[in-house]
Amino acid sequence: MTRRLPGNVGTVLIVGSDPFIVRQLETVLRASCTALSVTRAASLAEGISRIAADPADVILLDASLCETDGTEGVTKIARAAPASTIIAVVKQDGRTSVGELLEAGAHGCLVPGCLGSSLVPFLVAWGREQHRVWLTLGEVENSCYQIVQNSADAILAIRQDGTVLMANPVAERLFGKRASELIGESFGFPVVNDTPAQLTIPQTGRQSVIVDMRTTAMRWGGEIVSVASLRDVTEVATALSQRSEMLHGAILAIGRLTEIRDPYTAGHQHRVAGLAAAIAEKMELPQRDVEEIRTAGLLHDIGKMAIPTDILIAPRPLTQTERRLVESHPQVGHDVICEIPFLRSVAELVSQHHERLDGSGYPRHLKEGELLPGAKILAVADVVEAMASHRPYRQALGVDRALQEIRDNAGLLYDRDVVDACNAAFSDGLDIQDLTLEAAVSGE
Ligand SMILES: [Fe+2]
Repeated sequence: MTRRLPGNVGTVLIVGSDPFIVRQLETVLRASCTALSVTRAASLAEGISRIAADPADVILLDASLCETDGTEGVTKIARAAPASTIIAVVKQDGRTSVGELLEAGAHGCLVPGCLGSSLVPFLVAWGREQHRVWLTLGEVENSCYQIVQNSADAILAIRQDGTVLMANPVAERLFGKRASELIGESFGFPVVNDTPAQLTIPQTGRQSVIVDMRTTAMRWGGEIVSVASLRDVTEVATALSQRSEMLHGAILAIGRLTEIRDPYTAGHQHRVAGLAAAIAEKMELPQRDVEEIRTAGLLHDIGKMAIPTDILIAPRPLTQTERRLVESHPQVGHDVICEIPFLRSVAELVSQHHERLDGSGYPRHLKEGELLPGAKILAVADVVEAMASHRPYRQALGVDRALQEIRDNAGLLYDRDVVDACNAAFSDGLDIQDLTLEAAVSGE
């Protein structure tokens, strides 16, 4: 058969299923010679079948398509197409012996990362010299492929229909399947580009793996795909979860301690926590802020531990000295809580929970622009819960009266948006009696 290599190459058959390699080969070939006829076969069997119908001048075989080291595939192709030029495409993974591939019948070997300028000259060289060529692979032009293959993270390309287009070796280990098994299958998780997500990947016979996933849209051949990078964060996530449990346990214990000492306000803190969190959620604050406000609610009156019980429960107007002592509790609470490093922002909220927009609050008489958003929420929740519940010196005034109070002073003492959100929460069926300590701590 007459060979027609560039500029007289006729047909090239690519046998491979790795879309990265196949597209790269196609792109290089087409860019090099527009007259070239390039066909594809996704499996060895399909390749041999195509060769039987019409042997190509050049056959590019992805050796990783074959079992073991690829020599068997080369032998089969060589037997089916004795007149064709066979080039094995190999990965630099140490598993494939180039010498054995050449011995099996390949005329040359290529590494995917070096295809850019090497492929066509290689074909020309072969056509002119008519002997086996060992291509020196010193030049790395397409480092992208090597980066993906050697990444410590799992990397997958996912089509818009949710099926996997490409998976690297770490992805193979993470999902317990070979890339050839993953490709074409559903990824199984929602993918939103540029939106980080945390996934739990079940594992056979061992603990699930928690991964942080980041996805980016990119053009892959003629289509837009999501390239997902999955990083194993199981250890960190487990440690954070344990820390969170410890924190909840500590807050629960402190909350109970406060209430044992001050039974008349039993339940006040956890109801304030639940109500404040409901208001924050109604205002669509980030979940992290909601949890911070909830924690501040659970601890906001901890400073009352420094006040003698008979003053706290006195069913009479307080003296000026007693009132000054009571009004010190936000600062005392702050000073206690800020000793815990990861509760410092909570401590600041606690210190501001009796402040008012017009500066009439205490202890620092802060004004609207000086108040933290969370403190404005805490202040409303505190007032509503306190008015709605029984106090040593008066009967409960009820939720309706409490809501009227904050509506009357919206924009004066209390933030208007917070007041609206609080009213909306009750309109949606919030029942202040459902806000138990356990519910407040667990966030449910
Ligand atoms: Fe208070």
